[in-house]
Amino acid sequence: MDWGLKNRLARIIRPHSGRGVMLAVDHGYFLGPTEHLEIPRKTIQPLLPYADSLMLTRGILRTSVDEKYPIPVVLRVSGGSSIIGKDLSNEKITTSVKEAIRLNASALALSIFVGAPYEHESLVNLGKLVDEGEEYGIPVLAVTAVGKELEKRDARYLALSCRIAAEFGAHVVKTYYCENFEKVVNSCPVPVIIAGGPKLDSELDALQLTFDALHAGAVGVDMGRNIWQSDYPVPMIKAVRALVHQRVTVKEAHEIFIKNKEIEKAPKPTFETIAAQPKTKTKSTKSKKTKSN
Ligand code: R5P
Repeated sequence: MDWGLKNRLARIIRPHSGRGVMLAVDHGYFLGPTEHLEIPRKTIQPLLPYADSLMLTRGILRTSVDEKYPIPVVLRVSGGSSIIGKDLSNEKITTSVKEAIRLNASALALSIFVGAPYEHESLVNLGKLVDEGEEYGIPVLAVTAVGKELEKRDARYLALSCRIAAEFGAHVVKTYYCENFEKVVNSCPVPVIIAGGPKLDSELDALQLTFDALHAGAVGVDMGRNIWQSDYPVPMIKAVRALVHQRVTVKEAHEIFIKNKEIEKAPKPTFETIAAQPKTKTKSTKSKKTKSN
């Protein structure tokens, strides 16, 4: 692996912990204005300080992220189908590597659809993208997509998809958590990170899923909905971050969530509440005169 590629990878999987928190906000590329991501800038901005990297399309990067903010970008470069179209697996490479370089991307992300009608095309896309990425020292994140068939998310299928992604040269693989997740991680020779999937019933459930995936060997998350569809996205990403980097327990992570949620819920002082506060006497700051000779 070349220096540049290793350097870019280290922006995503942080060397101090060997893990990473990637914030996924690329959903609009086939879902349009997903719930809580209708105005991307509003959703993304408060979460940036707690993410190691940001996964998104060039359109949202250019319109909704401040170019002066130093966040490593994982650029989604595949697409071509929508949720109301015929087949979600019919994707092509939609963004060139030249454009990715222009946008200072730290990695390229592309979906593969193993077992779907366009399996072949998506795998060939991955091979081509890895060739190009290697040429310029840009790592490739392969996303093992399941389209609308969420029930595909079992260890047998995901191990197959992740392994194929690694065989095609992906440098990191993103997949879903499932039972026997060790099987998925152990048979994939490159680092695996997990997507959160659709929003779970509670934040505690999402934290448990994250913990279990990390415990089974995942090196981090590429999480979206379970963070920004929470009523408290910042407390949620802080809790996820603690699981990933500080290796806290689920209980500790949940306490971090609750504590930060309470802080957010507390009424913020307004001009009126400050003005209504009783004045407290302040000590005179005048210094006593000293005797002069
Ligand atoms: C899906 O194809 C998108 O690439 C998302 O980035 C991915 O599913 C991760 O987001 P979430 O945690 O919401 O599943």
